[in-house]
Amino acid sequence: MEIVIVGSGGREYSIGLALQNECRIDGIYFYPGNGATSKLGKNIDFKTQKEFVDFALKERIGLVIIGPEAPLVEGLADVLRENGIATFGPSAKAARLEGSKAYMKEFAKRYDIPTASFIQTQDYEEACAFIETLNTPIVVKADGLCAGKGVIIAQSYEEAKRAAKEMLSGKSFGESGKTIVIEEFLDGFELSVFAMCDGKDFIILPAAQDHKRLLDNDKGPNTGGMGAYAPSPLASEEIIAEVKQSIIIPTLDGMAKDGNPFSGTLFCGIMVVKNKPYLLEFNVRFGDPECEVLMPLFKEGLLDCFLACANGDLKSVQYGLSDEICVGVVVASRDYPYKSSKKEKIQILEAQNTQAHISFAGVGKENNDLLATGGRVLVCVGKGSNVQEAVKNAYKCVESVKFAGMQYRKDIAYQALGYK
Ligand code: AMP
Ligand code: GLY
Repeated sequence: MEIVIVGSGGREYSIGLALQNECRIDGIYFYPGNGATSKLGKNIDFKTQKEFVDFALKERIGLVIIGPEAPLVEGLADVLRENGIATFGPSAKAARLEGSKAYMKEFAKRYDIPTASFIQTQDYEEACAFIETLNTPIVVKADGLCAGKGVIIAQSYEEAKRAAKEMLSGKSFGESGKTIVIEEFLDGFELSVFAMCDGKDFIILPAAQDHKRLLDNDKGPNTGGMGAYAPSPLASEEIIAEVKQSIIIPTLDGMAKDGNPFSGTLFCGIMVVKNKPYLLEFNVRFGDPECEVLMPLFKEGLLDCFLACANGDLKSVQYGLSDEICVGVVVASRDYPYKSSKKEKIQILEAQNTQAHISFAGVGKENNDLLATGGRVLVCVGKGSNVQEAVKNAYKCVESVKFAGMQYRKDIAYQALGYK
């Protein structure tokens, strides 16, 4: 069968890399892909959804995996399914779990899913009145998609009110901020828990930890993620059991009951406070760079998992996960995340080996040169039987990469390294 992976980042590259040796796959298309995915398969591009659907029908594509949230929120999975094409990813209605924070919070409230107390509003006075009832810091969120930037952790009442005002006026996030969510600040540690779902059943993947801040010791501005590792030793069996019971199961049941069964990746952003998991956010796709450390943990059955989610028969799926640990270090361009940087030629000094590889993200190709063209350029992934070994392998891989202005964090997985 031939498959299409929709997206252009390190996440999509890592899915392609993990599936490339699957003997049932005859070819992988990336839509639109990046300068390195063309080595794993073929990059394709279309002007409209219809052109893409026509292509998928003509080529008898056996599976479409949709990586990023935007096409899901826009309904690409619906259109593909209506045309009988097996698709991994939720419908537009189910994708509202990520597309609208107000919808997600109301859903959590309705189904008794533990989450920070909140209001959603379009009214500044109402926002201020609720802000006054909270302790600082206070969390102010724009309702819609903001490429990971729509959350302000305000340290004072004034800052919270200013953030609310700027969002509501459309100044900071346009239409995405016309409705806002204000919520209490939860103080704990964060985990990313991923469930691959078929509308009713799910399989849970090893819990990952992202590193959102740009600089070591969690300093500097928020980014899309500067590194990740999985499994996290912080995710005890009890915490994961509680995430299943109090968050994932009620979500799948609730979505089905509401007539919007959820299939695809349910990414639960969790804050663990005093050993109890609270839902911070849902995403409806794999995290990036979390995906880059989860895909290599599949020893077998990854394609079957994707297909079973798409076809609604996850219950009988067979798969195997490695008991190794995987660490991914994001290498970003000079001015990330502030502005785009000028293109730079990338040199890779050493070949990849069984314990380390690169997932390419913001890269382009000119002649035969690989160029750093995006913010997060690539992810160096190391594996090991323990976290020390995986960290060592990941950073050895980073040393083999050279391009002008490259920046990366030196402390990825520090919480796991310090964990006894
Ligand atoms: P979100 O996009 O909702 O996950 O928010 C982005 C980041 O903001 C999260 O990964 C947390 O680090 C932080 N955050 C969001 N909501 C809260 C909250 N209620 N309490 C503490 N931190 C939060
Ligand atoms: N790394 C976080 C995300 O993909 O949203």
